[in-house]
Amino acid sequence: MIEVTLIGTGRLSFNLMNEILNNKRFKLNQVFGRSKFRPKHISDDVDYIKEIKNINNSDFYLIAVSDNEIYNVSNQFDAKEGIVLHVSGNTNINVLSNHKNYGVFYPLQTFSYETNLNFREIPIIIEANNKINQKKIEKFSKIFSKKVCKMSSNERAICHLSATIANNFTNHLVFKAEQILEKNGIDKKILQPLIKETFNKLDRMTTSEAQTGPALRNDNLTIESHLRQLNESDFLNLYKEITKSIRSNEL
Ligand SMILES: NC(=O)c1ccc[n+]([C@@H]2O[C@H](COP(=O)([O-])OP(=O)(O)OC[C@H]3O[C@@H](n4cnc5c(N)ncnc54)[C@H](OP(=O)(O)O)[C@@H]3O)[C@@H](O)[C@H]2O)c1
Repeated sequence: MIEVTLIGTGRLSFNLMNEILNNKRFKLNQVFGRSKFRPKHISDDVDYIKEIKNINNSDFYLIAVSDNEIYNVSNQFDAKEGIVLHVSGNTNINVLSNHKNYGVFYPLQTFSYETNLNFREIPIIIEANNKINQKKIEKFSKIFSKKVCKMSSNERAICHLSATIANNFTNHLVFKAEQILEKNGIDKKILQPLIKETFNKLDRMTTSEAQTGPALRNDNLTIESHLRQLNESDFLNLYKEITKSIRSNEL
């Protein structure tokens, strides 16, 4: 059995914990969190530790804390022969160089506390500090997913930038779209079929083929009407920029 220690108790850690607990090839050794109290999503069967000095030996340590804190947390424990992995898209592998064996395990997906995702379909981008660890990390990652790919820290950062735009920005735009309805007393559920089709149609065509709307059609009267409706809204400039971007179709 492969022993795994999780460091951090946030969204990704929660999903990894469930995945590890549900796979007989893994043993969840410990979960470290900085909270004095066991977070409610961590069951009593799990060895929850709040002092990092109480970390014991594992085959793999997954550091799933905020990007800014990876270096700091990594420097607080000795993994001995174990392999230390961070799970961040935009953090260089070298932040873990205080350890002998280290690397990256970045699942390119959006994780929340509510979701129950199929890890087999999630691309996992890996990196290692040497060839032997590369093989070990690859083997480990393939237990989670059938889509494991090796990349440098720079390539992974590009994937993360792209993922941030595709997911975080899109989600924020839907939030803003819902806000416009709510501010005008209209039920936001009216958007649901449109939002679903926006993503479903990408299974059948490219994003260029899927684009519609006044910016693509150069329907200036409609665009001017939208600008008047937005008036002094904080969204006005974003509307103008995105309209410009759709028209030019360049980065
Ligand atoms: N969520 C995603 O969709 C996603 C996807 C791919 C990769 N990632 C990566 O996963 C990592 C965690 O992200 P997340 O979204 O899971 O974040 P999150 O839900 O905000 O959780 C962050 C966790 O880090 C803990 N933490 C922060 N500083 C710490 C410290 N000094 N010592 C101990 N614990 C500390 C927090 O503890 P408290 O609860 O006590 O505040 C919290 O449990 C990041 O590297 C992120 O880039 C996330």
